Amino acid sequence: MGELKTIGVLTSGGDAPGMNAAIRAVVRTAAYNGIRVMGVRKGYNGLITGDIFEMNPRGVSETLQRGGTVLQTARCQEFRTAEGVARAAEIARIFGIDGLVVIGGDGSFRGARDLSAAGVSTIGIPGTIDNDIACTEYCIGFDTALNTAMEAIDKIRDTATSHERSSVIEVMGRDAGYIALHVGISCGAEAIIIPEKTFNFDEDVLRPIIEGKNRGKSHYLVILAEGVGSAIPMAQEIEKHTGISTKATVLGHIQRGGSPTVQDRLVASRMGFAAVELLIAGKTNRLVVMQNNKIVDVDITEGLEMQKSIDENLIRMSKVLSW
Ligand code: F6P
Repeated sequence: MGELKTIGVLTSGGDAPGMNAAIRAVVRTAAYNGIRVMGVRKGYNGLITGDIFEMNPRGVSETLQRGGTVLQTARCQEFRTAEGVARAAEIARIFGIDGLVVIGGDGSFRGARDLSAAGVSTIGIPGTIDNDIACTEYCIGFDTALNTAMEAIDKIRDTATSHERSSVIEVMGRDAGYIALHVGISCGAEAIIIPEKTFNFDEDVLRPIIEGKNRGKSHYLVILAEGVGSAIPMAQEIEKHTGISTKATVLGHIQRGGSPTVQDRLVASRMGFAAVELLIAGKTNRLVVMQNNKIVDVDITEGLEMQKSIDENLIRMSKVLSW
């Protein structure tokens, strides 16, 4: 590969708070090194349609603190086909893009891997509130989503206590339970139900509520990961079996928005900076990840093959601490 002259940056999949901080870091690190940066709008769609514009350091001012993604994002079906990838690689060549930074989740990285095979150097940055990418301890957006959910659940808890109610709160996470587990512990939930762990309704939901009531508790919080099921039928079942008034809340997309926390701004800045340095070093098909609290890089293909596991100790601890 010759000297790196132009890089592109895009966000793909669900947006996550902190993506703007990563875009800003990419743009400024590139500019500092004399490299031109092209922003690609709406994920891989923009690469297929040529929705691409030049970015500069002042153009990303005032974005660090903003939620969402200034490049917008999408889940692109066409890019999953060989024709779509070939077309995207051709557009990248037309715009002179020698290297591309892709900020997103697993699906986005499969695209980055295919594009690398088609001759465009690619570096991925993990950005998803679900924190479900196996090769990294941390994905941009997770901490902000947790804090947003925590604040909402604290409010629900105030009213649940006043009325001695039970609450089932459904949180996001797709097929993963990291949001549920982390926020459940942080809010002192009586039960945390996640897809990674099979659950028994009587044992894991009813029992902690009934026993908690007998021990003098005045509210009962059940945090339900969306990958397991819906809050409304579960709340109805709890009320039917316990006689305790039970309300259901689906937190929904509120968890994806808002100004990123310090952690998300910092990790996103570090990852954006590292991604450009990798491209300058001539690397491709790499993911910038966090391992042992350090920013390192791994091969995308190998990273995609890894399996994430849940910390059994956290599950055990959550039960003890809600005693
Ligand atoms: O992957 C992020 C996420 O917010 C998941 O937690 C959720 O299941 C999904 O995206 C929702 O996707 P959409 O915004 O397309 O409805």
